[in-house]
Amino acid sequence: MRTRLCDTFGIEFPIFAFSHCRDVVAAVSKAGGLGVLGALAFPSPEALEVELRWIDEHVGGKPYGVDVVMPVSYAGAEQGGLDKATFEQMIPERHRRFIQDTLERYKVPPLPEGESAYESLLAWTHTGARSQVEVALRHPIKLLVNALGTPPRDVVDKVHEHGVLVAALIGTAEHARRQVEAGVDIVVASGNEAGGHTGEIATLVLVPEVVDAVAPTPVLAAGGIGCGRQVAAALALGADGAWTGSIWMASTESDLHPVALAKILKATSRDTVRSRALTGKPARQLRTAWTDAWDGPESPGTLPMPLQFMATAEAVSRIHRYAHVESSGAKELVGTPIGEIVGRINSVRPVREIMYDLVNECVDTLARMGAMVQT
Ligand SMILES: Cc1cc2nc3c(=O)[nH]c(=O)nc-3n(C[C@H](O)[C@H](O)[C@H](O)COP(=O)(O)O)c2cc1C
Repeated sequence: MRTRLCDTFGIEFPIFAFSHCRDVVAAVSKAGGLGVLGALAFPSPEALEVELRWIDEHVGGKPYGVDVVMPVSYAGAEQGGLDKATFEQMIPERHRRFIQDTLERYKVPPLPEGESAYESLLAWTHTGARSQVEVALRHPIKLLVNALGTPPRDVVDKVHEHGVLVAALIGTAEHARRQVEAGVDIVVASGNEAGGHTGEIATLVLVPEVVDAVAPTPVLAAGGIGCGRQVAAALALGADGAWTGSIWMASTESDLHPVALAKILKATSRDTVRSRALTGKPARQLRTAWTDAWDGPESPGTLPMPLQFMATAEAVSRIHRYAHVESSGAKELVGTPIGEIVGRINSVRPVREIMYDLVNECVDTLARMGAMVQT
């Protein structure tokens, strides 16, 4: 199951894995795929530096990548981003009240004195993402990935100067064409069933459209890939490999919140929703009391990126903090981005075992299909 991207990156299998967790990234690359670290999770360039240094020390010289988010549209985009205080002032009182009411309804206590909420405003703006790119380029990364828009030309040029390839996530053939015009080397066609930010077109429809639109640019298929038959299907659609996210969430190496993990293991493929509750842009995630509240009749409506994330950061920290407390309903509000493939994620397994199963089943499937055309 070699494709041209295996040769490009010197990897054994054309399986790319997005994760915010450095242990998953290193384990995927060591297992023969290419791990890509989501930089969005880290609140400062220094924090990202620590993660990348750790990966350098644990990846055994295997290639890996970094993913940043440079949204094409967000509040304050004209200014390249605003400072935290200005953003804070932009959060309407109505929204603050709705968040407090929801927390009270589910008996979620305030954070203990001295404990601060987790906030990562940095990466939602071009200014923030640029500083992450600077950090990433000081490490031996092989791939820089951007989500939610076309990376600026000067960023693409700078990444190329370092001998690093650029990939971008898209949800339509039109967006794919624009990315290639902007100098992007690899297009990740992400279908509607994917975890995280996602468009409206299903993977089965989107991938061949994109492959044809940007040929000969290599395309990775994303969204709903959780077993080897689905990897084979991605290759059958003309993709040069699979870009995956959800299936690594329940790996032994993953640092996912235990309550979110328990929900993932129980969830069926009907238990996700594409909601703006998390970031202000549509993102597929577990359906929870929190997404129901934001999408329900009492909701004031979500705010544009990055205000929604900012407005809810303290609430989400409180929800995670008290998810284990019996007297609180916080556990009902705990969620995570995850794709429809969640229905097949039923146990916690090491990354190496997940990769082994993906590859073996893909090879068997390709052999079975090859036999269909032999006389
Ligand atoms: C928990 C989670 C967080 C994600 N965060 C990001 C992100 O920060 N940047 C990004 O480019 N993609 C992000 N994604 C999307 C993945 O890169 C990938 O496109 C998606 O998971 C593929 O579909 P799948 O979940 O069906 O495998 C995220 C996905 C998940 C599950």
